[in-house]
Amino acid sequence: MTNDAATSNHPAQPDGIFAHEHPESRARRDGGFTLWFTGLSGAGKSTIAHLVGPELERRGAIVEYLDGDTVRTHLSKGLGFSKEDRDTNIERIGWVAARLTRHGAAVIAAAISPYEETRRRARMAIEEWGPFVEVYVRASVDECARRDVKGLYAKAFAGEIKGFTGVDDPYEPPSSPEIVLDTEQHSPEESVQLIMTRLEELGLVAAGVTA
Ligand code: ADX
Repeated sequence: MTNDAATSNHPAQPDGIFAHEHPESRARRDGGFTLWFTGLSGAGKSTIAHLVGPELERRGAIVEYLDGDTVRTHLSKGLGFSKEDRDTNIERIGWVAARLTRHGAAVIAAAISPYEETRRRARMAIEEWGPFVEVYVRASVDECARRDVKGLYAKAFAGEIKGFTGVDDPYEPPSSPEIVLDTEQHSPEESVQLIMTRLEELGLVAAGVTA
């Protein structure tokens, strides 16, 4: 006769906590939030992210960037662009953003993050610790292809890259983002102003400090 308890992979400790589980600290520092940029490649996410960061620092925030291109050379190295890999990428960014938000940082995440449901899950993880501010950086595929900063749209239209977001792979625009930036209408500097005003309204940064 076998003894189930004795052969279990995860024998319960006397207090009922499994040996491989650690109770997590719930300590947190106030003031953290995540600015989550989403939009097509070339819409202007990184440009605006790197302009808004110094402005947040000027107002006293500790800023950390989680930019898609950078994350993909480190944390998400080796991931591709299937739905599964993109979801894994976004899940990782969301996980790190949540940890940093917990410690009071102003996190600036900037990845295409094309799927609404995946962004929603990132929002849920982050909102456990602080506000999630979704910023939809909007520009049409035609405009992004005209800019084609990295030359990737030309390759995608020529069929040399398959599954390129907005060309032959989906992009689901956010249904209720906190901020919408139309980068065909506004300069990057104007977009930064719009973000700062909105963050002031949300009570996440102190009102404008003149340099
Ligand atoms: S995401 O879909 O997982 O959020 P992420 O923002 O990290 O994407 O990476 C997007 C960047 O990877 C683009 O700006 C572009 O430079 C590059 N890239 C390479 N292949 C693709 C592709 N098939 N679709 C979109 N971007 C791609």
